[in-house]
Amino acid sequence: MEYNRINVMPITGTIGAEITGVDLRNLDAETITEIRAAFLEHVVVFFRDQPLSIEDQKTFTSHFGDFGTEPFVKTMTEHPEVIAVVKEADEINSINFGGHWHSDWSFQEAPPMATILHGQDIPPYGGDTVFANMYLAYETLSAGMKEIIDPLIAIHSARRPYGTGKSILGNKKRKSMTIIHSEEAHAEIEHPVVRIHPETGRKALFVNPVYTLRLKGMSESDSREILEKLFQHSVKEIFTCRFRWRNNSLAMWDNRCAMHLALNDYDGFRRALHRTTIAGDRPVGPEKALVRENVA
Ligand code: SIN
Repeated sequence: MEYNRINVMPITGTIGAEITGVDLRNLDAETITEIRAAFLEHVVVFFRDQPLSIEDQKTFTSHFGDFGTEPFVKTMTEHPEVIAVVKEADEINSINFGGHWHSDWSFQEAPPMATILHGQDIPPYGGDTVFANMYLAYETLSAGMKEIIDPLIAIHSARRPYGTGKSILGNKKRKSMTIIHSEEAHAEIEHPVVRIHPETGRKALFVNPVYTLRLKGMSESDSREILEKLFQHSVKEIFTCRFRWRNNSLAMWDNRCAMHLALNDYDGFRRALHRTTIAGDRPVGPEKALVRENVA
């Protein structure tokens, strides 16, 4: 891909690129098109030294689509589209938001296509975010495994972090963020295990350890063997990149073909970022894509 308006430098050979030569508060249509192209090519893109106000971040987000819907976490009072992702310095030994491998809100009928995170108050060390390329996770499976999983459906739910029982987020009373635990989090939604990316047409694995409960037609324990294998395979080091935050850094990742997690290795320091999402569409699997092709 050739870029005329931005500089794009991959940060690994498999996922992630840093974009330079751009002020995110001042973008023309051609630059936005190139940022979108780089995002599609590299799965996650990073920008440095972008001093964005909340309004600036919302404007940047809206260049790429409508805002997503933010459930189970209290958003900023004046900005219902923005979550302040915060862990305070004195929240020692508490589980951090986004601390397990996941794809954002995959329990929604139409999960967000992308998430944008902007660094506000970054610890001197620690709190990196790690990303995994779910295209490569799929493409590197054996032909036999692909044949098995291509037609499978997975059941996703927000139950484990946001349900009314014991939460994987640990202590339900958090100082820094208000999590809304509710019965609604127990709702289940079906998505294909393998999803066709609506813009690139590539196949990506679309399961994650936080929100994917089981495979359709199987118990949780029967599903576990296949799902665990897929989870472990997906996060092999070669499919990942790790982003070191600074104040005013911005990351934008594609939830349709990436998982991510925030590392929790900065006890004693505050970490704060602003997070927005861009609405996506309902995942389509290889079977449905085939039917669509035949209809066309
Ligand atoms: C998230 O999972 O949305 C937050 C990731 C992070 O804080 O790095």
